[in-house]
Formats: sequence, C-alpha cells, structure tokens
Amino acid sequence: MSATSRKIAVIGGTGLTELDGPEISQTLAVTTDLGQPSSPLSVGRWREQEVVFLARHGHPHKVPPHKINYRANLLALEAQGVTHIIAVNAVGGIHPDMGSGKIVIPHQVVDYTWGRESTFFDGEYRPLEHIDLTHPYDETLRYALVKASSECSVDALDFGVYAATQGPRLETIAEINRLERDGCDLVGMTGMPEAALARELGIPYASICLVVNPAAGKSDDLITMDEIRAVIDSGMSEVRDIIAASLSL
Ligand code: HPA
Repeated sequence: MSATSRKIAVIGGTGLTELDGPEISQTLAVTTDLGQPSSPLSVGRWREQEVVFLARHGHPHKVPPHKINYRANLLALEAQGVTHIIAVNAVGGIHPDMGSGKIVIPHQVVDYTWGRESTFFDGEYRPLEHIDLTHPYDETLRYALVKASSECSVDALDFGVYAATQGPRLETIAEINRLERDGCDLVGMTGMPEAALARELGIPYASICLVVNPAAGKSDDLITMDEIRAVIDSGMSEVRDIIAASLSL
C-alpha cells in the first residue's frame, strides 16, 4: 500500500467485532442492491488513514458463516470507495508450524464451501464473466502485511493455503486429513467467497489469519470454545498491531 488517497476496509471475524484504535466518526447503516451487510459500517480515521470497519458475523456476533451475505458486505464496502480490504480470519491450524496463537498471511485458497451466493457475475446481477483467481490474495497487500508484522515485531508466517469449509460445525479428523492431503495448511469458514468477490470488484484483498486451535486430530484434545476464546483474547491484539502498522507503510 502506498499513497494517501487510499481507504482501507477491515473485515473483522470471530473475536474482532469492533476495532478499537480508529477514531470512529460515523456508524453507517447501509443497504445494497443485494441486501444488507452483516453489520453497520464504522467509518473513521486511524494513523492518518481513512478506515472502514465491517463485522463479518454482525455485532454482536450472530450470523453463521454459511448465512453471511458476502455479496452485500463487499458491495457495501465498494460503495464507500474502499481501495484495499484487510480480512481478519480465525482459523484452525493444520500445518505443524501453525499452532495456536500463530499469525499467518495466507497466499492460496481451496474452496470447499457450497450453496453460498459466490459471484456477482451470475447472469442476473451482472452478466457472466470468468475472473482470474490464480493468486487469490493481492500480493502487494500481502507483502505490506508481512512487512507490517515485522515492523511491529509480530512473528507472522508469510505463506499458507487456506481451506474454506462450510461450517458452522468444526471438521472430523478424516476431513482434516483430506484437507492436509490436498495441501491445505489452515482451515476456516469465511475465507470464501469473500476473496473471490473482492477480486470480482477489483479491490485488492488479503487476509490475516489467527490460528485459534489445532484443527481436528492435530492435538490429543477435543476443540473447546474456551480454548478458542483464550487464544482470541491474546492474539487479536497482535492482529490489531499488524493492521495499525500497515496503515503507516
Ligand atoms: N475449523 C474451521 N474453522 C475454524 C476452526 C477450525 O478448526 N477454528 C476456527 N475456525
């Protein structure tokens, strides 16, 4: 990211329903041609940058991953004129280096979701078009986030293949083994179709993933919400630090 005319959107996920840091000047309850976004938009300034915050699951957290109106969320941000989108995703870790508390800036996605409205180019809202998604995340924005994490001394990994699953349940061991065989490092429920929709709108998009639990079968224990909450409480402040540092780059 560079220049001063940018406007950064942050889509907060589980554990990040508000963004303390920015001076919020407005809360906008907006609607779009494709319905209402998950939450009102919080518009403000942070480190001299214009920022727009959207809580992906609503605030308070209530919209399940498969029922999020991803298209409305993206259209609402586009209507605000955002130039970049930083997504925050809580994930399970599959790769041995991606244990609880680890922050990962993923570079690839495998989409296992189904039944979600996943395109603007459906022949109804917009005529059919096939977009390129070779690199699902914007490389320039990804590297800005990697650089920001080193500037604020957060140890983040700069690669990772994100598996997007349907949820809201977590996976079985056999499902995680399959994702691992497919080359996936992380598993979450909201990475798609969000990344693809951002690409369809031509808005650079990257994700900061916080590993909140070892994926099913990757530890001896069952996955508990208490464990996830504890990691979120400690890890989200590092995610905030990365976002803040990226605004100054
Ligand atoms: N699986 C899918 N989504 C998740 C997980 C998980 O283990 N943890 C957080 N989001």
